Amino acid sequence: MAPPLDRRHFLKSLGIGIAAVSLNACGDAASEDTLTAPADFPLGLPLPFAHGVASGDPLADRVILWTRVTHVDPSESPVRVTWEVARDPDLQQIVARGAQDAIAARDWTVKVDVVGLEPATTYHYRFSALGQTSIIGRTRTAPASAVDNLRFAVLSCSSYWSSYWSGLGNLAQRNDLDLVIHCGDYIYDYPDEDELVRARNGDDDTALPDYRDWLDLAELRRRYALWRSDPNLLSAHQQHPWFIVWDNHDIDEDYGNELATPYDGQKSMTTLEQTTQAFWEWTPSRPVRADGSGKFLLVDDGSYPVPEDTRLVYRHLPYGPLADVFGVDTQIGLPGHGLTLDAGHLPTGTPTLYGRPQFEWITRSLRTSHQAEVTWRVVNNQAWFSPADVPASSGLPKLGISRWADYPGERAALCEFLRGDGPDGVAVDGTIFVSGDAHGNLGSDVIESLDVVPDYEPGALLRNPRNGSTPENERAGWIHATTGNTSDWNSRAGSVAVEFAPSSMGRGGADELVKHSNQAWSFAAQVAGARTLESLLAGLNPNMQFIEWVDHGYGIVDLTAERALFEFWWQDKLTPDSPDVLGMQMVTWARDDRMALPTPRYRNQIDPVSLHGMATEETSGTRTSSPAPAFVATPR
Ligand SMILES: [Fe+2]
Repeated sequence: MAPPLDRRHFLKSLGIGIAAVSLNACGDAASEDTLTAPADFPLGLPLPFAHGVASGDPLADRVILWTRVTHVDPSESPVRVTWEVARDPDLQQIVARGAQDAIAARDWTVKVDVVGLEPATTYHYRFSALGQTSIIGRTRTAPASAVDNLRFAVLSCSSYWSSYWSGLGNLAQRNDLDLVIHCGDYIYDYPDEDELVRARNGDDDTALPDYRDWLDLAELRRRYALWRSDPNLLSAHQQHPWFIVWDNHDIDEDYGNELATPYDGQKSMTTLEQTTQAFWEWTPSRPVRADGSGKFLLVDDGSYPVPEDTRLVYRHLPYGPLADVFGVDTQIGLPGHGLTLDAGHLPTGTPTLYGRPQFEWITRSLRTSHQAEVTWRVVNNQAWFSPADVPASSGLPKLGISRWADYPGERAALCEFLRGDGPDGVAVDGTIFVSGDAHGNLGSDVIESLDVVPDYEPGALLRNPRNGSTPENERAGWIHATTGNTSDWNSRAGSVAVEFAPSSMGRGGADELVKHSNQAWSFAAQVAGARTLESLLAGLNPNMQFIEWVDHGYGIVDLTAERALFEFWWQDKLTPDSPDVLGMQMVTWARDDRMALPTPRYRNQIDPVSLHGMATEETSGTRTSSPAPAFVATPR
């Protein structure tokens, strides 16, 4: 997310003084006691597979499987790891198996691109090494042909220190998901001093590497180990394939702790190459080719897929005729990383977040997807893309909620492309930005800016009829009273796409901002302050069809050929095992239907489902699959 100082300056600029049975399924194998972990190392499960299993980047015929061998190996000899994939949770119907060496140079991580799988199929898998077996994981390949329904979870900004991550445990319980999309800030470099919910060591000793910014590659890697010592995150990876892009905290090179430490004042402690290297080692992500084409580096022989250039993360997962899923990178080109991106696709002097190769890739890919009549284009996107600022014509200072406020030229170029004002004149409908970064809940039309779309006219603002996850968060957030449309007037025709940003998995939003302004404020007062802030933002940005900035959790995107439905699921981040609360449901339509009742439907607009007369009951998938066997974690 944007640096905390920016958010606080933003408030000031507004003058807001507000307010398991450890499934060490080891059977009769050698005892775990014969293995030893590095001293005081974060562990979630028995050695050596102490950080569980994970899968990701599924295609129709393959998926990445991940694990790590954790133990002390004085000789640093490679460790032979075998893997097996089956059609059933008991691993009786094996369809693929192989072996790979875990080595120190890759931080003992194992990544296999398992090939030859069937499309739209659930598989279970397990690793074995050193006489031990891992927990059993579940994954699912992408469809190659038509399916009735796809369901994706969406989350971002998952700070271990800020939340008990109940939401991760809850989404692990779902058996109808196709993919978990993480929009970045998967790990954090440092804890926020205003939201210290938990620490591994149970104290605030900032000399400890698990409670402060990392100093070197070893501590960077260890940060991932801390995250994967959490039972809820272990479960969420165990049960679903993930698709992850990074954001600023994942790849931050500099020392920037908010807690006082002996290392304050240090500048660069790690390199960009090290932060991105650790990402590829510890996430179940498939690297792409170094040529900037966004095409995957496909490894068919079971060996470790080594990135040609660790700094490239933008890529594409086809999900059949119903959806294409893209991951973009609008982080690595920011000035702090020291790269100079080619801005040749923009007018001279216009700054770029994408860089020319990526901009050309995403526009080419979106156009190809649209021309192939794929219904939905889902873009895994770090920072709020739709306007969340003050209109330039107002003369007021910028708010700086999203980095896109500083890149209006490139946002305009992408909106022009989607609108069909680009060189080929083809409009691209059905684009859904799923976003993170701002730690607030947002459902928005995507317009270039109010200055460019002056006739954009949604209805008046009303409070959300639903409550949040805590009693204080009554009528959580704001929606518009009507769609503003009639059967012969599309009042929001300037919208070229929709955006769905389901807050953060813990890192603080306006609640934390208000608290920062005055530590004495009660939580109820923090919520009241957040309501003021939300209404101010939504008033300035009528493209925001829903905004709520207190609750935290994850989202569900439920796709059919007719509509995309979005759910905001929240949990009390301060309470372990907090249940899911459904905070808002929104919908966007694949086709215009001016005669639909009770409300006309227009493409590229997002509305609360209540405005379309739809039932406000949680959705579920049209299929379910057997979960991977449960485990009892032993975090330490
Ligand atoms: Fe963040």
